[in-house]
Amino acid sequence: MDITFPPGAYFSIAVIFLTVIITKVIVRRIVAPRPEKGSLQPPIASGASLVAALPTILTKGLHPVLHDLHAKLGSVFTINLFGLKKVTLLVGPEVTSHFFQAKNSELCHPDMYKFTIPIFGKGVIFDVDFETRNRQIRFAIDAMKPTQLRSKVDYMVHEVQDYFSKWEQEGIIDLKHELAEVLMLIASRCLLGKEVREKMFEEVSVLINDLCKNGMHFISLFFPYIPIPAHRQRDKARAKLGHIFHEIVRSRKISGQVEDDVLQKLIDSKCMEDGRSMTESEITGLLISLLFAGQHASSSAASWAGACLISHEKYLAAAVEEQQKIIRKHGQHVDYSILLEMGTLHSCIKEAIRMHSPSAMVMRHVKKNFTVQTREGYSYEIPEGHTVATSIVVGNQLPHIYKDPHVYDPYRFGPGREEDKAGGKFAFTSFGGGRHACFGEEYSYMQIKVIWSFLLRNFELKMISPFPEEEIDKFIPGPKGRVMVSYKRRLLVST
Ligand code: HEM
Repeated sequence: MDITFPPGAYFSIAVIFLTVIITKVIVRRIVAPRPEKGSLQPPIASGASLVAALPTILTKGLHPVLHDLHAKLGSVFTINLFGLKKVTLLVGPEVTSHFFQAKNSELCHPDMYKFTIPIFGKGVIFDVDFETRNRQIRFAIDAMKPTQLRSKVDYMVHEVQDYFSKWEQEGIIDLKHELAEVLMLIASRCLLGKEVREKMFEEVSVLINDLCKNGMHFISLFFPYIPIPAHRQRDKARAKLGHIFHEIVRSRKISGQVEDDVLQKLIDSKCMEDGRSMTESEITGLLISLLFAGQHASSSAASWAGACLISHEKYLAAAVEEQQKIIRKHGQHVDYSILLEMGTLHSCIKEAIRMHSPSAMVMRHVKKNFTVQTREGYSYEIPEGHTVATSIVVGNQLPHIYKDPHVYDPYRFGPGREEDKAGGKFAFTSFGGGRHACFGEEYSYMQIKVIWSFLLRNFELKMISPFPEEEIDKFIPGPKGRVMVSYKRRLLVST
């Protein structure tokens, strides 16, 4: 019999886990002072400061604490977990270049990422050796190249028009919910294909939601196979999805039917080691991993972009004015190159993603010692066996790179300022960077711009709930709770 846990229960388990770790740290921790220049050991987070931070961790999450540790200890510091694991944090472009660019023989994804195996499936990504994973990822990158994506704009526009045509003349909606729905429709058309979009959208989106929701608890990171109800739901959903995609792939192969979607690109590609095509189960696993990597993150980014835009009149007016200019030039038509003209909207979205990065932290396992040099001139050696992590949230808010980093200011990316570029190659890392940079970045901006240009052109929007806080109990955090917005139809015309 299934026991239903309230969603908060998993968070509580994670909190207890964290508390145990931190308590151990206090017992064992020797408060290490900041080393002299030339010293090779990164400073260690003091147990006392971690204990003092417990209430903050419980109410505001881990990142404010990392902010504080960064302020006190500098851009490189180690948190010693239990004495069993050492996690060294690297913050900012000066010390993250090796992190992002190192070969996999030097830094690799940590074992913790294996929590995705029950989600993606056997034989793909983190269930295979590094060479195979690389080939599989290259496969997916090919399917997401800009040349492949251009043709997807029409589908996106069509889905967006169709979805929002169901809104009344005026009303109140939960923006977060609406955006997640429309993004799922876009994903099913552009990635999963016609069969899913036309015949089984409801069924597949419920299964994908079940899979992600039940497989992404913090507890799954540490114990992905413990038999809790959430994991049983996850496994049931994965098995059903596997069956559905096997059938679709098999039927396309038998009938010779060819479609314009990412699924087709995966079916057709032949870049595995021996020139063979991918098996049905590899295709299914890759498709699910693309959805997993992209869907929640895009949904979070689109919601933050909306919440920030609607609550900042100055930038909302600038984004609307840009749409008016584009309408004057191209009418209401939107295609790939017109999306590229939406520079103001692009910066508004990017600034929302900088301040509220859907991907909060990325990690690697150190296979070969390396040294980093901080901007203050300290040199630290990170030993083999450590786990290294970079907090994207802290890195995106460094005051020596971003002027008034806590202020929503999309013009910081504009001509004459370009704070992200001036800050160095890894100053803006919401999409990672280097060797494992996100290849869904362009696709994400495209779909969010299609959605927001449509909303700005067709609706007056006002936020009626308070500006949302961050979710702190999610692996991919979005705005917390509902984001209530009132809308009224209008048709924007050229100025
Ligand atoms: C706003 C939306 C998105 C954000 C913020 C985001 C963020 C990231 C980040 C930070 C990484 C680097 C992870 C690391 O270094 O370990 C990454 C990698 C990745 N992303 Fe995204 N992503 C987004 C959308 C997407 C989409 C739409 C897709 C695919 C449809 C996607 C597919 C991937 C994949 C497969 C990787 C792994 C690449 C590799 O390991 O070489 N992402 N993403």
